[in-house]
Amino acid sequence: WTAGAVGLLIAYLLGSVPTGYLAGKLLRGIDIRRHGSKSTGATNVLRTLGKGPALFVLVGDVLKGVGAIIVARSFCPWLYAEISPPPTASDLQVWVPWAVCLAGLAVLLGHSRSIWLNFTGGKSAAAGLGVLLAMSCPVGLGAAAVFGLVLAMTRIVSLSSMLAALTAIVLVCAVEHPLPYRLLVIGGGLYVIIRHRANIQRLLAGAEPRLVRNGQGTK
Ligand code: G3P
Repeated sequence: WTAGAVGLLIAYLLGSVPTGYLAGKLLRGIDIRRHGSKSTGATNVLRTLGKGPALFVLVGDVLKGVGAIIVARSFCPWLYAEISPPPTASDLQVWVPWAVCLAGLAVLLGHSRSIWLNFTGGKSAAAGLGVLLAMSCPVGLGAAAVFGLVLAMTRIVSLSSMLAALTAIVLVCAVEHPLPYRLLVIGGGLYVIIRHRANIQRLLAGAEPRLVRNGQGTK
């Protein structure tokens, strides 16, 4: 239990690293949470600070998701080895996917409810992509492809993120995956969609901003 709690805490703290907030503070001295959609995610950084900072935040947030899964896969077995009697290889085959599931959910939670930002943050789409890519490359690439396609067609990032999350859920259920992976993608995907509820209201009202083609933000 201690090993599991340590793994969870590491993943949550990794997700909590406030990349978007730091970009706003360090580059422009502003609190990104007071601008645009108030999210600390790459899209709001794009509309508020521009392409360079947005790319930095996007890559950083994807890497947080990847990092949490790497921690669960490599660090957790090392922690579990401290248990007496040490777990067998077949124990680990069962435990590691559950550690991946919990670490994935914890990093998403940390990103959107950061301990450093009074439990505010982003919408966990980029961190979610990182989780997917590290957990199952085909599922991650499938979700990324749908994101790119919808974005090219509509130029609406939130719609693209939500449809990518739905695609990941469908893919993980359609292709053979361990139960913990399925629960991670279903729970995480629904969480990402719920985090977009303000966007859903704006979409329904026809007021959701689109990416500007030749500019650097959204309008
Ligand atoms: O990943 C967040 C994106 O889908 C929407 O961001 O700032 O337009 O609410 P935003």
